[in-house]
Amino acid sequence: MTTTKTLLLLPGDGIGPEVMAQAKRVLDWVQARSEARFEVIEDLVGGAAIDAHGVPVTDATVAKAIAADAVLFGSVGGPKWDSVPFEIRPEAGLLRLRKDLAVFANLRPAKVFDALAEASSLKPELVRGLDIMIVRELIGGIYFGEPRGIETLPDGSQRGVNTEVYTTAEIQRVGRVAFDLARKRQKRVCSVEKANVMESGLLWRQVMTGLQKAEYPDVQLTHMYADNCAMQLAKNPKQFDVIVTGNLFGDILSDLTAMLTGSLGMLPSATLGALKADGSRPAFYEPIHGSAPDIAGKGVANPLAQILSLALLLRYSFDMEAAAASIEAAVERVLAKAGRTPDIAEPGRAQISTTQMGDAVLAELAAT
Ligand code: IPM
Ligand code: MG
Repeated sequence: MTTTKTLLLLPGDGIGPEVMAQAKRVLDWVQARSEARFEVIEDLVGGAAIDAHGVPVTDATVAKAIAADAVLFGSVGGPKWDSVPFEIRPEAGLLRLRKDLAVFANLRPAKVFDALAEASSLKPELVRGLDIMIVRELIGGIYFGEPRGIETLPDGSQRGVNTEVYTTAEIQRVGRVAFDLARKRQKRVCSVEKANVMESGLLWRQVMTGLQKAEYPDVQLTHMYADNCAMQLAKNPKQFDVIVTGNLFGDILSDLTAMLTGSLGMLPSATLGALKADGSRPAFYEPIHGSAPDIAGKGVANPLAQILSLALLLRYSFDMEAAAASIEAAVERVLAKAGRTPDIAEPGRAQISTTQMGDAVLAELAAT
């Protein structure tokens, strides 16, 4: 690959800039040893953008994100912005970017690294070898449904409203991403909703059933209510291959699944939009963890989720499978032998800083 690709980095708030700094070092390594040429631009988002511009993301930044070949995002939010108006809270910047980029399929892999099986809150035998892919619908459902708002009633009390809404087309497009991924894995999709309570869930179930019959007869489809899915994830997580679900259930279930792997600080995510005529697709990459204000600035955050998000970016947006696999293998080796950041600490292992974790990954990469 010799064409120049544009990459927008949005470190954001809290630990975002700290972990992004380590991902940038890995990006430099990729550039130095391959034909790849990236034009890397960086911009503000979240609280950092509120401080500079009064909004959590500017129109100019959104335009840069749309023009870029891929976006690598850090994290947003923190107590400093707790009292800003709801419309311009840091998270609104992230939600606008997702919506305006039209990235609807959020891929949240939950893989247990062998060296971390002991760090899970479940028994190691329940999680060893665990490899689940959650496909979360990201720009629909109750996050964006109308009507929404807080209204004042005639008696002076208030009423808060949000709306869960999904159309056939929205369900089908995220369903296809899940079925396509399953074809490269164990060919099993579990579709999750609350069809026993919600009409939007009933439609979700019907559309997934129709899609499987019409286009994916080779993939096994099962259905599960979201509450049962939470229970099954805690009881026997290895029963799942690909889980496909709406925005809110996906938000909740992916935190649970992430925790099963031993550390939220380990997990990357990729969010893809529709395939364009030229074969490219809008794409947004971010760690699952948030801005962790409690540890921000202390140099102890785990940069591995950000680094692994970069690996997903190289794989899905730039078709650089070899580089992505090298980074993932380097992370595996670091976990097996190097020190640990506090979130994945283990007795008998040295505790290391964010930068030292970056050093360890680079040392492994240099040895490949
Ligand atoms: C996530 C986060 C976001 C979400 C927040 C920060 C808006 O929890 O990516 O899971 O709810 O989608
Ligand atoms: Mg979440």
